[in-house]
Amino acid sequence: MAWTKTIAYMLATCSLWLPTNADNVWPNEATDELEKMLFEQQNPFESSLATFAVPCSASGLAIGRGFGAEWIRNAYHDMATADVQAGTGGIDASIVFEKDRPENPGAGFQETLDFFRPRYTTRSSLADLFAMGAVFGVGGCSNGNIILPYRAGRVDATGPGPSGVPEPQEDLATHTAKFVKQGFNTTEMIALVACGHTVGGVHGVDFPEIVPNPQPPPVTGPFGNDNTVFFDTTTSNFDNQVAREFVANISQNPLAFGHNETTRSDFRIFNADGGDMISRMAESLDFFSQTCATLLERMINTVPPSVKLTDVLQPLPVKPRKWSIDVNADKTLTVSLTLRIVDTLLGGGIQALVKPVSRTGAALPATSPVVIGNISTSTCDYPNCGPSFVYLDYSINIPAEQGISSFTIDITDGSGKTTTYNNGGTGFPLSDAVQPQMSLSTQTTKTVNGVTLQQLNVTAAVYNADQYTNISLIVPQPSNFSATISPWVAEVAPMKASGKIAGTNYTLYTGSWLASNESAPQHPFDVLATGPQGSASSTFNSWGDVPFVL
Ligand SMILES: *[C@@H]1O[C@H](CO)[C@@H](O)[C@H](O)[C@H]1NC(C)=O
Ligand SMILES: *[C@@H]1O[C@H](CO)[C@@H](O)[C@H](O)[C@H]1NC(C)=O
Ligand SMILES: *[C@@H]1O[C@H](CO)[C@@H](O)[C@H](O)[C@H]1NC(C)=O
Ligand SMILES: *[C@@H]1O[C@H](CO)[C@@H](O)[C@H](O)[C@H]1NC(C)=O
Ligand SMILES: *[C@@H]1O[C@H](CO)[C@@H](O)[C@H](O)[C@H]1NC(C)=O
Ligand SMILES: *[C@@H]1O[C@H](CO)[C@@H](O)[C@H](O)[C@H]1NC(C)=O
Ligand SMILES: *[C@@H]1O[C@H](CO)[C@@H](O)[C@H](O)[C@H]1NC(C)=O
Ligand SMILES: *[C@@H]1O[C@H](CO)[C@@H](O)[C@H](O)[C@H]1NC(C)=O
Ligand SMILES: *[C@@H]1O[C@H](CO)[C@@H](O)[C@H](O)[C@H]1NC(C)=O
Repeated sequence: MAWTKTIAYMLATCSLWLPTNADNVWPNEATDELEKMLFEQQNPFESSLATFAVPCSASGLAIGRGFGAEWIRNAYHDMATADVQAGTGGIDASIVFEKDRPENPGAGFQETLDFFRPRYTTRSSLADLFAMGAVFGVGGCSNGNIILPYRAGRVDATGPGPSGVPEPQEDLATHTAKFVKQGFNTTEMIALVACGHTVGGVHGVDFPEIVPNPQPPPVTGPFGNDNTVFFDTTTSNFDNQVAREFVANISQNPLAFGHNETTRSDFRIFNADGGDMISRMAESLDFFSQTCATLLERMINTVPPSVKLTDVLQPLPVKPRKWSIDVNADKTLTVSLTLRIVDTLLGGGIQALVKPVSRTGAALPATSPVVIGNISTSTCDYPNCGPSFVYLDYSINIPAEQGISSFTIDITDGSGKTTTYNNGGTGFPLSDAVQPQMSLSTQTTKTVNGVTLQQLNVTAAVYNADQYTNISLIVPQPSNFSATISPWVAEVAPMKASGKIAGTNYTLYTGSWLASNESAPQHPFDVLATGPQGSASSTFNSWGDVPFVL
């Protein structure tokens, strides 16, 4: 019956007109990378940092060190030089320039930097990564009991900030003043210290005056022994045990009951209000958790007023995860697309039709996913972090003359109901105007004056190239290779026409970028075409998709 079909169609497509959250659309340069790292913790494409912090009991790179505790400490020490009145400091990754200060002892800061730096890009500041490390540490160590809402947008410092991290031998007045400077009053100081000291401990190698540091016993692994004494008996659980044991006078915490009275800073801090706050935290795990969630969120969001953080990141229901558009000799385009879909939307099935839209806005035939072997999926490393995802691959063939500009997707759930996902109304943009042709591109190394440098040769297909006056390959690089981190600069290699693709309006352009330094990072690259009538680009392309040749 025709009318039934019409109604079904209207039901299926009515979400096109539902109001949607205008901000949570793809792409978003400010959040796409970070959203991926936050929510795709066990994905089939690349290793996730969250995995190192889970389980919380997993050792770091020495006996007595764990990544979760280390990353929470890293974020606090980075934040601790904030002056909220002056509007300076906060989470800005300045800790990377402050590692050799007496207030920052231990290998943990370098270790954290070494783990996070490979993820440091123009779309993921180190400060944002350090904040995310704290989210992973708290989420992993609380087994998902505390999920810190995560915002992006922190800006990296270009050098060290002032000193200001509290040290154990300082008196209560000094500590109170330092926390006030950071934006935390006495009650909040007590709570924040308890929250930070529910995992980890005091490392004898770094604080021999606080806990014994005998010669490390021989170990059979590659790593040493930090001679750590933990703050509480549940060092791998983000729980209120540290408060319970303090109130019960259990003497494990070296900063509360250690042999050295001078360094009993937790004892002084926990008693700063007569013991009221620490007792309340000891009495109720819920109160402890809620208090820690609030204060740690404030900690990671401590930034100068000039820095505007984004809204809390939410996982996109549908997100293009990988894509490429190849121009074929037979005058067609092959769009290879991997979509990440929240698995509950699919209801166990894989009915998800991609509906491409041509360059001029015409509907093109819908395409079902290609299924080869098992469907890949991603889950979080700890509960409550976010949804699980399914990755579906598509291979879409389109006449080059028609091209593609965007697509929508119709997903049928377990009950048979079909919903159109259209990225907030405009469809998911997927432009074929400028597309690197990975099979024609190469990466290699070249030795110049005895130094081995990376070389990236990119060939891109450019549609109606006549309209552009400048087509360039852009590889962001550190502005200062001597510095631990430095602002990114765009290194630009011009691209030259290397031939037309017969029977299409595509021209191939080729450019070659040679690294200026042997330690040049493989930062994702852009191809940018500009001209008087406008510009087109393909941004943040992964080196991983470019074949390596000797
Ligand atoms: C600290 O601030 C909190 C929240 O604003 C407030 O409830 C608490 O009473 C304050 N504590 C002190 C000692 O001022
Ligand atoms: C106690 O700690 C202080 C401050 O670090 C240090 O100067 C002192 O030597 C320590 N005392 C002992 C007995 O280790
Ligand atoms: C802990 O020690 C303090 C000081 O000696 C004492 O007042 C308190 O009652 C003790 N608490 C417990 C639970 O034993
Ligand atoms: C699919 O996954 C299952 C369970 O992980 C495994 O036993 C099976 O071999 C996989 N099949 C293919 C084709 O990869
Ligand atoms: C090339 O572009 C011109 C002008 O936009 C258009 O008329 C023509 O159909 C295009 N040809 C092909 C093969 O795409
Ligand atoms: C081409 O564009 C790049 C990137 O915007 C720019 O750096 C370069 O100077 C431009 N080249 C010319 C010749 O204008
Ligand atoms: C790479 O940078 C380092 C640190 O600035 C410098 O010592 C080295 O000479 C640079 N290499 C080249 C090839 O310029
Ligand atoms: C580069 O970084 C080094 C190390 O931090 C610093 O000494 C040097 O002044 C920096 N160079 C420039 C041009 O900023
Ligand atoms: C990359 O491009 C450069 C400059 O055109 C060329 O010398 C080199 O041979 C190319 N490398 C490869 C692997 O094609």
